[in-house]
Amino acid sequence: MSSSSSSASELRHLAAGAALGAALTASAVYVLQRRRGVDGVRGVGGGVGGGAGSLEGLAEQIEGGLAGGAAAAMAPSDFLAWGGAMLRWIVRYRTEDALTGGVVSRVSPNYLIEALPDAAPEQGEGWAAIMRDLDTLIVPGLTHWEASNRFFAYFKPHASYPAVMGELLCAGLNVMGFDWIASPACTELEMVALDWLAKLLCLPPKFLSKGRGGGVIQGSAGEAAIVVLLAAAVRANAKHGAGGESGDGGGGGGDDGESGEGGEGGGAAALAAPAVPRHRMVVYCSDQAHAVCQKACMVLGLQFRCVPTSKADGFALRGEPLRRAVAADAAAGLVPIAVCATTGTTSSCAFDALREVAAVCRDGGGGGGGGGGGELWLHIDAAYGGAYACLPELAHCFDGIELADSIVVNAHKKLLCPFDLAALYLADRRPVLDALSLQPEYLRNAASASGAVTDFEHLQLPLGRRFRALKLWFVLRRFGAEGIRAHLRQGVALREAFERRLAASGGDDGGRFELAAPPSLSLVCFRWRWPRKVEPSGASAAAVLDEEACNAAQIALKEAVNATGECFIIQTKLGGTMVLRVACGGLEQEVADVEKAYAVIEREAQRLEGEGWASTA
Ligand SMILES: Cc1ncc(COP(=O)(O)O)c(C=O)c1O
Repeated sequence: MSSSSSSASELRHLAAGAALGAALTASAVYVLQRRRGVDGVRGVGGGVGGGAGSLEGLAEQIEGGLAGGAAAAMAPSDFLAWGGAMLRWIVRYRTEDALTGGVVSRVSPNYLIEALPDAAPEQGEGWAAIMRDLDTLIVPGLTHWEASNRFFAYFKPHASYPAVMGELLCAGLNVMGFDWIASPACTELEMVALDWLAKLLCLPPKFLSKGRGGGVIQGSAGEAAIVVLLAAAVRANAKHGAGGESGDGGGGGGDDGESGEGGEGGGAAALAAPAVPRHRMVVYCSDQAHAVCQKACMVLGLQFRCVPTSKADGFALRGEPLRRAVAADAAAGLVPIAVCATTGTTSSCAFDALREVAAVCRDGGGGGGGGGGGELWLHIDAAYGGAYACLPELAHCFDGIELADSIVVNAHKKLLCPFDLAALYLADRRPVLDALSLQPEYLRNAASASGAVTDFEHLQLPLGRRFRALKLWFVLRRFGAEGIRAHLRQGVALREAFERRLAASGGDDGGRFELAAPPSLSLVCFRWRWPRKVEPSGASAAAVLDEEACNAAQIALKEAVNATGECFIIQTKLGGTMVLRVACGGLEQEVADVEKAYAVIEREAQRLEGEGWASTA
């Protein structure tokens, strides 16, 4: 604990916003000076809850004398001044107590629609008015994902200041790195940063950019699922076409597998006549997989098969039930094409048994018993859990990861970047290139034709792409591998602190709460042991109630906790049972925050018991 808390304070130092304004101002000055001379930065005020007076003063300094549309058009010097004000606003929002309204926004539906005019202003407005509306209209409608240490819902993201600076720079540069020549630095920094990350996560060399495979940034894990499942479908179609011969690389670009990405024939495999209609292709996930996998199947017209898990297996996908499902589908004439396994499920951070799953993928579910239809694509959804692969003490959780065809890790979850940065790693880029490459005339250029460069447009759905690698690069350089490991260990330590509080309440031994799944990574799933029948004397005794009422009790407790505004938790279902979920691990979160959350949960449970929730039994 002590080493983790000293690392934690170091982390806070690293992430501190004190120097943010100065550093950004310095880079903005550099950019602006190259465009035209500017005469320095004026002091600015304003901020969350900041007095309108200071904003008015600033408005006078900057916009005095300008009128109408001229005031709205932002001169470089105004950008420097108001940009500094905006940075200070962000730092104040995240560090001062802006949360008087609670962690979850309490506004009513349509509050903002009714408050704002129904058309844009005819004349451009001054920044002071806009900043004032941020405070008075926007902040009340925020649920505080970033500014509150009592946010325990979903998976708390961590937009560290270095990454926020990367976002700003990305918007300021506004390069479109769809192919190499569109901005060589954008492509090459992405390759370098993703290789660095792959090494930090101990991924095998096949996922590095030097060989057939490599990383590519996608907007989200959901988008990544669409990309890889499309590739799996195109690959399966090629395999079943032309007399069942493998169509590896069919229709792809250059002659060798390493060059000419997206060249002349790109996309031909995707456009080939369907040997197998999509609706006969099947993708497998556990019943704990994130909904984005099913959504990807919906988008692509693929069948989605949900394989059950059990509490006894810790809600992990095991090989045998998967093998049975695949074999049954193959026997029914369907074509199994892919499995999406998860390392760190959303509900309970369960880890699928990768080695068992990979064995099924390899033999197509046949396992020597027949029925298999050929190799299945193994995609690993490591959107949340993947970050923890950088901790040697958790390496066993990722055993078998080297057998995957693709892995997605969201840097916008535990890797200190703001949305959107999903790092998709491919063992072999070729199937995705076959599925997504097209080369219209206006995108042809000598660099692409040379085969010496990577053009990321062929490994994603849209054409345009932002310079997102900047934020990951800044994070990796500023935190370093040690800083990132410390951040992840801190999340685990906070979870353990919450777990200790649960145990102290009696835990599984007849206490008010019980664990609902093995605690994992930074997440605890637990259940309010309801009913605790309240006797006239006030003493509690166990009573048996039907499942539906127990489930309703969990929701009632969650609503009560969130209504206090003191913390924010959500529920999920495990094996058909409603449970409550506390996800720890904000960058500035401390044991005191976790203990406070526990205290609120216990207090509200006691109150509900006292008010008769239990006596309705
Ligand atoms: C395991 C897992 N996969 C996928 C997602 C969805 O991620 P994205 O929003 O990047 O699509 C989540 C979100 O929490 C998740 O936990």
